Amino acid sequence: MKLRSVAVAFALTVCATGLLAQGPKPTPVSLWHNVQGVINGKRLLPGSKRFQPGSRNADYYTIDGVNAIARSYVLKHHGVVQCSNFPNGSLLIKQNYDVSHKLVNITAMLKCKGYDTADNDWVMANYSPAGKAIAFGKVALCINCHAIAAKSDTVFAPPPANLLSPKTIHVYFPAKKITIPYLKLLKKYPHSIMQ
Ligand code: HEC
Repeated sequence: MKLRSVAVAFALTVCATGLLAQGPKPTPVSLWHNVQGVINGKRLLPGSKRFQPGSRNADYYTIDGVNAIARSYVLKHHGVVQCSNFPNGSLLIKQNYDVSHKLVNITAMLKCKGYDTADNDWVMANYSPAGKAIAFGKVALCINCHAIAAKSDTVFAPPPANLLSPKTIHVYFPAKKITIPYLKLLKKYPHSIMQ
């Protein structure tokens, strides 16, 4: 247990100092450890709310969490929309809940300079509520959709600031229905719809 914490601390230090090429990369286990830190720390992404509307049944409600590095960067820039280059070690997570408030999965993005220079250097991951990595690393599905938010370093501002049209969502999740609360948001905030 102690050894594992040391390994996690080392992986984070390496990320935070930009020495990734010379040190260990974050692993599904080390990142899950950091994700739990964000959940326990209860820091919300500035501008977001607990149980805000998501777009599909798998994320009917969402909670966007951040670590201290990401939070102070977003606050300094007065919101995600003005954030064009998140600092090393920034960690953002999205807890996805179904309509009955049951946790379905947790997505995470960790900024790791040198990890994926072509795609803004984020380690992308999706975990089951028990911490099993469903996807991890340079995940094309995540990266391609997040690229829509290129101006803000591929981070979306929380609803209703950055919304996706049902058409765009269906490109990535063809079988998933858009929820009624999300359709209402789209109707109320048409200028927030990103292309
Ligand atoms: C169809 C487009 C799409 C796909 C695919 C997608 N996301 Fe997102 N993601 C979004 C949108 C839109 C938001 C903002 C909604 C919110 O914050 O509740 C978001 C929010 C997030 C957040 C919170 C930070 C932010 O950008 O607001 C994280 C972390 C995240 N996604 C990670 C992932 C990971 C990891 C994957 C792949 C497993 C993934 N996403 C796949 C569209 C997508």
